[in-house]
Amino acid sequence: MVRLDQFIATSTALSRKDAKRAISSGRVQVDGNVCKTPNTKLPPEAEVTLDGQACTLPGERYLMLNKPAGVVSATRDSDHPTALDLLPRELSGNLHIAGRLDADTTGLLLLTTDGQWSHRITSPRVDCPKTYLVTLSDDLSEPAVRELQQGVSLRNDPQPTRPAGVRVLEPRLIELTLSEGRYHQVKRMLAAVGNHVEALHRLRIGAITLDSELEPGQFRALTPEEIGSVD
Ligand code: URA
Repeated sequence: MVRLDQFIATSTALSRKDAKRAISSGRVQVDGNVCKTPNTKLPPEAEVTLDGQACTLPGERYLMLNKPAGVVSATRDSDHPTALDLLPRELSGNLHIAGRLDADTTGLLLLTTDGQWSHRITSPRVDCPKTYLVTLSDDLSEPAVRELQQGVSLRNDPQPTRPAGVRVLEPRLIELTLSEGRYHQVKRMLAAVGNHVEALHRLRIGAITLDSELEPGQFRALTPEEIGSVD
């Protein structure tokens, strides 16, 4: 059986000393009850939280963040706040972003310590669809819908885009589902059909949907089902 302070130190970025402090100060719960004793022996199925966020061994972390506009998808930036700046220090250590968003794009951002897992989301060889809510400057014409569905040629890119899913919700509001992730792809695809993206919001990556309870800037740990849905 593993000790509570060891469990916290292994499943977060906290040192053993800081893990002990976090436990003593009442930030850790075991099976829903605050536990202030660092050397508590944990039963194998115990559910442990730090500041209300689930902690899981062997130390890999998986989070979703509702990215606000103006935050960059980088781990460090000297001029702008980054996605990692929105997370508490004990969770942000060693995290990287699985699928970046432009600074002005909002919505679902996945962060993890697990490189193999994020590779399955971002690798061009793996078909992991990403769905965006796209607000347009002009009504989307029928021919433009068909072009997006079939694949369009982007400026300075010889390879046409792969077929995309298009759901027209309103003449200037669509859901676009892509199975690739080229630089500024949504904006360039809409430019290629003579339109312009006014606002862009990511709703879904694979089977993981942005939690509607998360306000911009808020995050939560992924559930085991969400983590396991990426294969
Ligand atoms: N496509 C874009 O153009 N921007 C994003 O942030 C994501 C996809």
